Amino acid sequence: MKAIVIGSGGREHAMAWTLLQSPKVTAVVCIPGNGGTAKLPGCSNLAMSVDDVEGIARFALVQNIGLIAIGPEQPLADGVADGLRAEGLTVFGPNQAGAQLEASKAWAKTLMEEAGIPTAASAVFSNREAATQYVEEQGVPIVIKADGLAAGKGVTVAMTMAEAKDAIAAIFDGQFGAAGKQLVIEEFLTGQEASVMAVTDGLTIRPLMPAQDHKQVGEGDTGPNTGGMGAYAPTPVVPPALLDRIQSEVLEPALQGLRNRGIDYRGVIYAGLMITPEGEPKVIEFNCRFGDPETQVVLPLLETPLEEILLACCEQRLETLPPLAWKSGYAACVVMAAEGYPGKYPKGMVINGLDQTTAPEAMVFHAGTQLDRGQVKSTGGRILGVTGLGKGFGDAIANAYRAVKTIQFDHAYYRQDIGHRVRDQF
Ligand code: AMP
Ligand code: GLY
Repeated sequence: MKAIVIGSGGREHAMAWTLLQSPKVTAVVCIPGNGGTAKLPGCSNLAMSVDDVEGIARFALVQNIGLIAIGPEQPLADGVADGLRAEGLTVFGPNQAGAQLEASKAWAKTLMEEAGIPTAASAVFSNREAATQYVEEQGVPIVIKADGLAAGKGVTVAMTMAEAKDAIAAIFDGQFGAAGKQLVIEEFLTGQEASVMAVTDGLTIRPLMPAQDHKQVGEGDTGPNTGGMGAYAPTPVVPPALLDRIQSEVLEPALQGLRNRGIDYRGVIYAGLMITPEGEPKVIEFNCRFGDPETQVVLPLLETPLEEILLACCEQRLETLPPLAWKSGYAACVVMAAEGYPGKYPKGMVINGLDQTTAPEAMVFHAGTQLDRGQVKSTGGRILGVTGLGKGFGDAIANAYRAVKTIQFDHAYYRQDIGHRVRDQF
């Protein structure tokens, strides 16, 4: 079978790599892909826009593509899955209606409330005066979120009243464009965050291995939020009994809530959770796709062929798929970024030393790179995700950093403390 992966990040490189581990997958085409997918044996890139439904459909039909997996949220929110399905193609990823789970925080909050899913108390506003009055009544700390997709930048955890008011003003002043027509104000939760990604065919939902990521740019989890500076799995913060509760209290009700709205959801439901000090799981957000960089630690540990899981979701037969099998051991991913990210950063740096890292101890998933006349050059803020595997977290983290040290490019920045919460536990 030939497959298409839509997207160009580290998540998509990891998806392509994992699909190609299966003997049944003969080729993967990434649209548009990156420098890593260009060099991956069995994989090729197609320079086409991720929302060019007509172009992708034409290519997929001519090439007899058996599976199209959509990586990022934006094409899902734009209805790319709907468009490709309408051409008779087999697509993993929710339709536009389902993608609202991520594309509108207000919509997702209503669904959570109706389904009785534990989450932070919240209120939705579409004008500044009412929002400001509400934060004055509630006090700080408090969390302000632009309603729509804002590339991870629409959330402010306000510790002071001034920050809260600035965040409200920024959203209604149009800093996030259409994403800021409404905002959600939320109770501030404390605890440890965890990411539980689950796959669903619209009838059955199954969790993957729980992971944790490091959102903040600085050592010790400080500084501005990013797309994610590292991740590890399986996280001890979500032991099996808690995962069972998340399945019955979060994932199944979320799927039921979607079904009640008449939505046939076939793809990933990613629950971003706060595990409170009392051990209660509360939903911070839902995403409608695999996490990045969580995918770069979860998929390398997957034993069941990925294409079997994705096809079972597309063809609505997840219930009959045998239980998912996992490799023993642990994985950690260190993101190598450009100095300055998530602010301004340089691009176009030549990356050397990439061919020295080998599976199974470590692998390099490219994010913001491209292949330019034989050289791999940086194109984005998050450039590489280096995943280490090991018998324990200590080994996995050491393997990741050993591989990181073999890679060189100018203005490289990475956190030295990925996995600090778990590295001494196993
Ligand atoms: P989101 O885009 O909704 O995942 O929010 C981005 C980040 O903001 C989360 O990963 C948390 O670190 C933080 N955050 C969001 N909502 C809350 C909340 N209610 N309480 C505390 N922190 C939050
Ligand atoms: N790592 C967080 C996300 O994918 O949204």
